[in-house]
Amino acid sequence: MTAGSVRDEHRDLVLGRYRKHVNKTLGRLARLTNAPVELSASGATVRGSDGVDYLDCGGYGVFLLGHCHPAVVAAVRAQLERNPLATRLFLNPELAEAAEQLASIAPAGLGKVFLTNSGAEATEVGLKLARLAGKSSVIAMHNGFHGKTLGALSVTGRPQYREPFAPLLPDVRFVPFGDVEALRRHLTGDSVVVLEPVQAEGGVRVPPPGYLRAVRSACDETGALMVLDEIQSGMGRLGAWWGADLAGVTPDVLLTGKILGGGVMPVGGVVATPEVFARLDADPLLHSSTFAGSPLAAAAVTATIRVINDEGILERTRELGARIQEMAREAVTRHCPHLVVDVRGEGLLIGVEFVSPDVATEFLIGLLDEGVIPSYSLNSSAVLRLTPPAVLDAADLDRLARALAGAARHLTRAVPAAA
Ligand SMILES: Cc1ncc(COP(=O)(O)O)c(C=O)c1O
Repeated sequence: MTAGSVRDEHRDLVLGRYRKHVNKTLGRLARLTNAPVELSASGATVRGSDGVDYLDCGGYGVFLLGHCHPAVVAAVRAQLERNPLATRLFLNPELAEAAEQLASIAPAGLGKVFLTNSGAEATEVGLKLARLAGKSSVIAMHNGFHGKTLGALSVTGRPQYREPFAPLLPDVRFVPFGDVEALRRHLTGDSVVVLEPVQAEGGVRVPPPGYLRAVRSACDETGALMVLDEIQSGMGRLGAWWGADLAGVTPDVLLTGKILGGGVMPVGGVVATPEVFARLDADPLLHSSTFAGSPLAAAAVTATIRVINDEGILERTRELGARIQEMAREAVTRHCPHLVVDVRGEGLLIGVEFVSPDVATEFLIGLLDEGVIPSYSLNSSAVLRLTPPAVLDAADLDRLARALAGAARHLTRAVPAAA
């Protein structure tokens, strides 16, 4: 039996298990896209069972440090052997240190931290803190994405995901992202505003300059709360710790996740002002979760913050972001300008908007054929995202440039009617 046929047999076994026990539609999709089995990952590379070392520019924004960053893996491994999950009755020193570290990089004034197991759970905590602070109505944004648990879904701006689960939270109103006047029309002292600094799953929508500051002012004038979801935009993705830093605003509550666990552990988090956190500070049982803030997760958070500082990840993200955005623009402008609406982004969150979802899918297939993994956008299927790690080297950049050009050329062949 050849190594190739053993690999094929293994893939068939995995596909069969998907169809039977995981999700039959995901299994079918994997067959259609010829997706390999993911075998291992390191740095910017993911090894597939097809023998290809893929350059990972996707991963839904998790891998700013690349895969298996050695410092994060070492911290998690040491913790794993010492004390992975705490009793919760005694003090958890890893949680205390991670909370201090997270507060130290958060916008000034945000000092209270609650670690969660996912991004959606962080959104839940943000919404619950707002309720505890007396805010009974929510204003969220069309196309915003905050997760798929029931509370997070209630404020997620895509009806297609919400409607099958109605009724959701009451008193949620959606307004256009970037339009502060629309927000002001509905804002009262009972409101909490939930938004992202840049809508990531919404298709990398960057708001007009001054928008977040105007939202902050509107909240201050009415007494409303501002919850900024930085689950995807934060922890360096935009070339700063937070989108809030770039905009010069301090929200009342900041949500984080994804990069927070260094691409090694699933962790989310909420950082809030002492005022908004006061009720939970007084009664910690109002929100708790068995695994939240585990020593294992906390060790990953502390190591991740250290790596971002020590390795100049924010600067590198800005540099690489500008180059890759230009590279993507150059590839599509040269080969398929008629199929592309826009190339935009901030730092290493880059979106290419195509004339239709089908064209975006063809570009995705082209990139995979070229050995590059992109991200699909959950709320905007005509936009393909590149969320590469900040550890790409010169050879990776060359490879990405060739892949973008190759995928753009593939488009002109695959979409002949529009070409
Ligand atoms: C801005 C934002 N908020 C919340 C979430 C939900 O996070 P999770 O998938 O970890 O629940 C996401 C995930 O993509 C996100 O991009």
